[in-house]
Amino acid sequence: MAQDTLEASANTADLTAGKSKVELRNVSKSYGDEWEQQQVIDNLSVEIRPGELTVVVGPSGCGKSTLVNLIAGFEFPDTGEILLDDKPVTGPARDRMVVFQETALMPWQTTYQNIIFGPKLRGDLKGNALREEADRLLVKVGLSEFKHKYPLQLSGGMQRRAELARALINNPRIMIMDEPFRGLDAMSRGLMQEFFLRLFEENRRTNLFVTSEIDEAIFLADRIIVLSNRPANVRKVIEVNLPRPRDYKMLNSPEAYEIKREAMGILHEEAMKSFKSGSGSDFAEAYGKADS
Ligand SMILES: Nc1ncnc2c1ncn2[C@@H]1O[C@H](COP(=O)(O)OP(=O)(O)OP(=O)(O)O)[C@@H](O)[C@H]1O
Ligand SMILES: [Mg+2]
Repeated sequence: MAQDTLEASANTADLTAGKSKVELRNVSKSYGDEWEQQQVIDNLSVEIRPGELTVVVGPSGCGKSTLVNLIAGFEFPDTGEILLDDKPVTGPARDRMVVFQETALMPWQTTYQNIIFGPKLRGDLKGNALREEADRLLVKVGLSEFKHKYPLQLSGGMQRRAELARALINNPRIMIMDEPFRGLDAMSRGLMQEFFLRLFEENRRTNLFVTSEIDEAIFLADRIIVLSNRPANVRKVIEVNLPRPRDYKMLNSPEAYEIKREAMGILHEEAMKSFKSGSGSDFAEAYGKADS
């Protein structure tokens, strides 16, 4: 791992990339036609700071993935604007890579083929340079030995690491992760969090990470953005000043406890609102997750 870290620091692209910022200004978004319109995001303003790991938490169904889709450029706001380094987002681009909960690996391609797919298709990295970069990333995500295996031959955690490598080969200015570890068993999830944290702490690429697990949020984040019930708005921004590199034991510290108490208080309040408005299943799911 030490050798790996040295190699990463020697890679100048790693050191200069990813210090981008994203600003959302008064963003609103709704779905449906005029007869049955559902407002999902309501006048939301927030800044994703350069070189920080910003975590978004919110009740189930509040609009977190919609927020991801807007920043990724898959969807557009009805009003307001989204700026990447002061320039409006006009659609999807490889400067914003998204890792979703559902695997996006192509089952008929090996780990290696999946990783090189994007740059190979575009032709912006070729031959030896492409092979070397893919191999470097395979080492970084611990999958060198699984280079020629197909996604179905990988464990859930390995698949997520392959996805990370596939996104990182594009050297994005911001990584966007939408509940990437949801669905993994508790042990794999814990390991993935630690692995991902080491990767982030190595070069501090700007990162937006969506989760519904408060402990995961505290363990990873520089700042936690707590969203309201739908339509989503920012209820609270919590700074997480736990030192880095982080360690799981820090979750038992008084600072972590205080953050958890505050965030869970807000999430409970917001989940109660959704319960009162009639979507009881949202309540059960949202509060169940916050409590775990
Ligand atoms: N493309 C779409 N068309 C219509 N409605 C949509 C669309 N995308 C999202 N929605 C609606 O917007 C609301 C918010 O959905 P979204 O997936 O953003 O929530 P979420 O917070 O990510 O939920 P979860 O916690 O389940 O991941 C939901 O009511 C959903 O039905
Ligand atoms: Mg979602």
